[in-house]
Amino acid sequence: MGVPSSTVRVGVIGFGQWGPNHVRNFSLLDGCEVVRVCDAAPARRAAAQKFLRGVAVTADPADITGAADVDAVVIATPTDTHHALAKAALLAGKDVLCEKPLARTAAEARELADLAAAKGRILMVGHVFLYNPGVRHLKTDLDRGELGRVFYMDAVRTNLGPVRQDVGALHDLASHDISIFNFLLGALPAEVSATGSCVLRAGVEDVGFLTLHYPGNIVCHAHASWLNPRKVRQLTIVGDHKMAVWDDMNNLEPIRYYDKGVAVDHYSSFGEFQLVLRDGQIVIPKVKLAEPLQAQDAEFIACVRARREPAAGAVFALGVVRVLEAAMESLRAGGRAVPVPA
Ligand SMILES: NC(=O)c1ccc[n+]([C@@H]2O[C@H](COP(=O)([O-])OP(=O)(O)OC[C@H]3O[C@@H](n4cnc5c(N)ncnc54)[C@H](O)[C@@H]3O)[C@@H](O)[C@H]2O)c1
Repeated sequence: MGVPSSTVRVGVIGFGQWGPNHVRNFSLLDGCEVVRVCDAAPARRAAAQKFLRGVAVTADPADITGAADVDAVVIATPTDTHHALAKAALLAGKDVLCEKPLARTAAEARELADLAAAKGRILMVGHVFLYNPGVRHLKTDLDRGELGRVFYMDAVRTNLGPVRQDVGALHDLASHDISIFNFLLGALPAEVSATGSCVLRAGVEDVGFLTLHYPGNIVCHAHASWLNPRKVRQLTIVGDHKMAVWDDMNNLEPIRYYDKGVAVDHYSSFGEFQLVLRDGQIVIPKVKLAEPLQAQDAEFIACVRARREPAAGAVFALGVVRVLEAAMESLRAGGRAVPVPA
């Protein structure tokens, strides 16, 4: 199968909570068309049939992965199904956009990354925050050195539900924060420690606290939970020049830069040092809002056409799964620091 010359024909597997958002975005995008939708649940197929006139709806994913009239497969099913579905699509020569995280284990994710490379297929993963205008704004300013040397980042991602059946809060929620840290810092952490609590079901963490050590002595922390009264989506970045707070729940002014800092002023003759607090202005930059999923899905189609690797490509996604795997090992070992394999 070569490069689609005209319309990219998309098949979507999974029409639950999130799949319809992909269907909406791909239906609105120029240069592509949703031709088939699959869901295992009869009620979800009925919903798809009701809302999507002219789109073939099926219960069998093979009707999508094996269809001659599908160029690109979008996978929006639970995480434990990603590996088998993405593998079938890649083996059939399709380009794939798979929801995050790419797979449960690093071995599965690596197999998919290798398969995509061997087949010359685009494999993109729905690390949607790489396409979030607030995160992109922070990335540009970090790369320009606006915050100076970064000391640490602290992320909070909490809400009440939805409670997943197949994976815990680390794979479901902290995967977003890991993707944001890796993207902003352009690196993987060297080691991870994780604690958490399995409250609702044995062996499935409902809350997780991750500490990740990145190159350059940068420490990142993430608190992820679906068992929390408040929906919070926040990231604090502390640098030696400025500090930033990004609030993804604030649609009008998502980022604030604080011209605040602490510096060592001088050492006295007795070896004591003076700390000087700097408490300057707060700047709220203009961030042009756009739907991140729309930008992500448009990027997927652009990459399919141009045959280029997306920022959230297979290599990036494998990095996130490697961190998750180390975090799960640490969680099971009571928080012991676990290296992330290079
Ligand atoms: N990027 C984001 O911000 C974001 C947000 C929500 C969900 N997600 C991801 O999207 C994926 C789906 O999440 P969701 O909230 O829509 O879950 P969901 O449980 O609401 O929907 C999943 C759907 O997939 C169907 N399904 C399950 N196995 C299938 C199979 N083998 N073949 C066909 N259909 C199958 C189910 O019947 C269900 O309708 C997950 O990987 C999740 O992590 C990403």
